[in-house]
Amino acid sequence: MIKQAIIPLAGLGTRLLPLTGVFAKELLPIHGKPGIEYILDECIEAGIKEVIFIISKKKEMIKKYFYNDKFYKKIIREKRDSRVIREYKKILKYKKIIKFVYQNKPLGTGDAVLKTKKLIKGKFFLMLLPDDLIIKKNCSKSMINIHNRYKSSVIASMNVKRKTVSRWGIFKLSNKLDKKNYLIKDVVEKPTIINAPSNKAVIGRYILPKNIFSKLSKQIPGKGGEIHITDAIQSLIYEGDKFVAHNFSGKYLDCGSMNGYIKSNLEIAKL
Ligand code: UTP
Repeated sequence: MIKQAIIPLAGLGTRLLPLTGVFAKELLPIHGKPGIEYILDECIEAGIKEVIFIISKKKEMIKKYFYNDKFYKKIIREKRDSRVIREYKKILKYKKIIKFVYQNKPLGTGDAVLKTKKLIKGKFFLMLLPDDLIIKKNCSKSMINIHNRYKSSVIASMNVKRKTVSRWGIFKLSNKLDKKNYLIKDVVEKPTIINAPSNKAVIGRYILPKNIFSKLSKQIPGKGGEIHITDAIQSLIYEGDKFVAHNFSGKYLDCGSMNGYIKSNLEIAKL
């Protein structure tokens, strides 16, 4: 059973500058609730018991958000405001399941994942990228079911317009396992339209095997001088590891760019 999830939060968030110059984008409210809380709720509903946040010194505000007990206790003592009491209880619930590790230099998603190596107990774990919100259906829960069915790693997949493939990681697929699931042959980072093996893009939900850590610890930097998680996945696939692309049913919202962030607010307001 998959009981642990990791969430990389140590990136620079340059697409949301100037806001991210002083603020953690994952705490920005989406229809009144910080983005990270949607991600945590998805994990809890999917049966996850421990969530590891990878943060940096610059993102310590995220830790503070969950560790502000003294302040809450003082306000509650003085005001007895029922809304504050409710919010504090919710934060305590999250705090119980969160652990923090640090990545002080943003050397890439793969390097961020490597920081959790000592904390991962099971053979597989879930990873969620917090910029990618998926609403209307719990994608992590569906992926855990697929993992249990096929005893494999799983990556969320979504059909994108062919003309936009160069913005995404794109799957090269082999066998169709069933209506929504395919075996992955390869993942190509940001291909040109001509070179794209499909129009199925990687979205930020992964069930990864523990043996990815040994790949990551030996991995040399790839595109842009960063250690990419996709490169480690690629070498596992080449060695015969089974990875399934899961075409999820929920609605994808991109919260990592300003346009996407604004649209996400509007979409969630409609729910
Ligand atoms: P991105 O590279 O897509 O986003 O990383 P970013 O760095 O946060 O923002 P931009 O692109 O500069 O606007 C995907 C996820 O991986 C984390 C990020 O925090 C984000 O959640 N990440 C990225 C790390 O934790 N460490 C890294 O070294 C790089």
